[in-house]
Amino acid sequence: MGRYTRGVDAGGILAEVKSLVDSRLDELLPGESVEPTPLHQAMRYACLPGGKRLRPALCLASAEAVGGSRLDALDAACALEMIHTFSLVHDDLPALDDDTLRRGRPSCHVQFGEALAILAGDALFALAFRTLAACSDEAPICAEAVLTAAEASGSAGLVGGEVLDVLSEGKEVGAEGVRMIHERKTAALIAASCKLGGLLGGGSEGQTRALFDFGRTLGLAFQIADDVLNETSTADVLGKAAGSDRSRDKATFPSVLGVQQSQERARQEVEAALAILSSRDLDSEKLKVLANHCVKRAS
Ligand code: FPP
Ligand code: MG
Repeated sequence: MGRYTRGVDAGGILAEVKSLVDSRLDELLPGESVEPTPLHQAMRYACLPGGKRLRPALCLASAEAVGGSRLDALDAACALEMIHTFSLVHDDLPALDDDTLRRGRPSCHVQFGEALAILAGDALFALAFRTLAACSDEAPICAEAVLTAAEASGSAGLVGGEVLDVLSEGKEVGAEGVRMIHERKTAALIAASCKLGGLLGGGSEGQTRALFDFGRTLGLAFQIADDVLNETSTADVLGKAAGSDRSRDKATFPSVLGVQQSQERARQEVEAALAILSSRDLDSEKLKVLANHCVKRAS
């Protein structure tokens, strides 16, 4: 198992997290030869080799920021990645964004058909909660982890955000309206990732609260940067559709503020996120590097 190196850049941190998380996901996911095999193949296809693993990286770095070990938070980090991956499988479906490319290859429903993609997503969601229910030796911590992920996923989180996202197509919702979408659709799970890292790393209530607030602010910055990349980059670089927000007339920050002001807003949100950490004496080089990467990344 690899070790983080001092002063490492975002690419180094993410590569190391990816190897740790991918090998644990490989253990947690049912094998491809286990019946029903097409279901398990679709679940594994969606999760492995996967994307940037940013949520797990934030979760593990948060555990370390409160003095814990990243291994304490590894199962929770994998569960968060399952929820994230499941949400992308469903987001790409024809009924939602109707995107055929994800993580540089055909979307799950293109590869396996819609029925299996829907069901593989459902099974990943269930496996995520099964994993969270056993993510610590201490039952109250498992319960808190399940509660946190459920709140981030439901009508006040991912589902609610996705509903607002779909309903806002073709409408003028303004910067505040877009912020409300992004806080639910994206920031809620990033906030939960940081909070769960703090919780499993043994942080105090104040520390886990600060990590949650940090993640929520950073999550907004992350989604603004995502909007900008959709507008300015290419499918080859992103490994997913580019220009699709504009063609579907989505409510995004660039559509309201333009690209330059959106980039500025994303940078301000990162500064605000890092100030939350400093105010709680939670300065962590890794969290700082990852936070800056959220708005500087190319994909
Ligand atoms: C991608 O946004 C989509 C999301 C961040 C969330 C999608 C949420 C759902 C489908 C609901 C999931 C259901 C549960 C129960 C958790 P995007 O379309 O802006 O980004 P993209 O360009 O990567 O597709
Ligand atoms: Mg989408």
